[in-house]
Amino acid sequence: MKTLTITRPDDWHLHVRNGAVLKTVLPHTARQFARAIIMPNLKPPVTTVAQALAYRDEILQAVPAGMDFTPLMTLYLTGSTTVEEIKRAAQSKYVHAVKLYPAGATTNSDSGVADIDSIYPLLAAMEKHDLPLLVHGEVTDETCDIFDRERIFIESHLSAIHNNFPALRIVVEHLTTAEAVQFVQSAEATIAATITPQHLLFNRNALLAGGLRPHHYCLPILKREHHRLALVAAATSGNPKFFLGTDSAPHQTSLKENACGCAGCFSAHAALELYAEAFDRADALDKLEGFASFYGADFYRLPRNTGMVTLEKSTWQVPETYGDNGVAITPLKAGETLSWKLV
Ligand code: NCD
Ligand code: ZN
Repeated sequence: MKTLTITRPDDWHLHVRNGAVLKTVLPHTARQFARAIIMPNLKPPVTTVAQALAYRDEILQAVPAGMDFTPLMTLYLTGSTTVEEIKRAAQSKYVHAVKLYPAGATTNSDSGVADIDSIYPLLAAMEKHDLPLLVHGEVTDETCDIFDRERIFIESHLSAIHNNFPALRIVVEHLTTAEAVQFVQSAEATIAATITPQHLLFNRNALLAGGLRPHHYCLPILKREHHRLALVAAATSGNPKFFLGTDSAPHQTSLKENACGCAGCFSAHAALELYAEAFDRADALDKLEGFASFYGADFYRLPRNTGMVTLEKSTWQVPETYGDNGVAITPLKAGETLSWKLV
């Protein structure tokens, strides 16, 4: 049987929620990944170091006995975040980054930043204290087509941020377009990016394949095939600016299969296997370890993991749903067959 053994990976963009959903989803991540950057878009959002530490404790309590998993916490930037809080975050050994959500751009982003120019003093503080900025790079202008929102954000905000704060480390989260790939490639080494499994595996047709497919709806939305091909090329290029971030974003099935379905794909159940599928199709399995296990740690200036994981090429069927006691979450590729399995 064909197998692939790589250094244990990390997930550099993950939503685990809290309460009962946290208990359902976290074991899936802990089974595969040593660490994950935890997104702060809870209700209410995680805006202070004190809240991040409390959330970290809740996550640690959900790690199954015998599993070794480290959550890396982030703060949610708002119009009222203070320079003092940024300094506290930089000094905390548990907070690793600050997340910028343009207000209204995605799930639980209402408290995000409405006027990006107004947060420049905070970005200056992050640059000074060397605290990375994580960006949901989409404009929220109602008149801007949803498929153009990432490209326009880069043109109208991200380039300016990078030019004004050249030493600020920035992760452009969940890239979806060829233009974003191009921006990251040609920017300074302070700019890197995460890429999700769904954006490597699907183009926008997957939203409308024989009918509306709510489980393929995430933000930024899936794009055209030529964008997907650019993402696959970037992820499999061996360029350390591109690394693994699943953006696994669980929502109850009832909130996805809904007249106003939530944005987010739950992929944690098979994250590494889904990436292996994408890399295998591109005949680039030799590039998976750098993408999944090295480049993110290097960018965040954390040590690389030392343990190993093994994938084998054998088929298995993804369950229709995960969870119990009132939690039911439909995973990405529910009911479908995957060709790689973590052993
Ligand atoms: C994420 C979520 O549900 O929290 N949804 C998504 O579609 N990716 C938020 C985000 O990362 O945009
Ligand atoms: Zn996300």
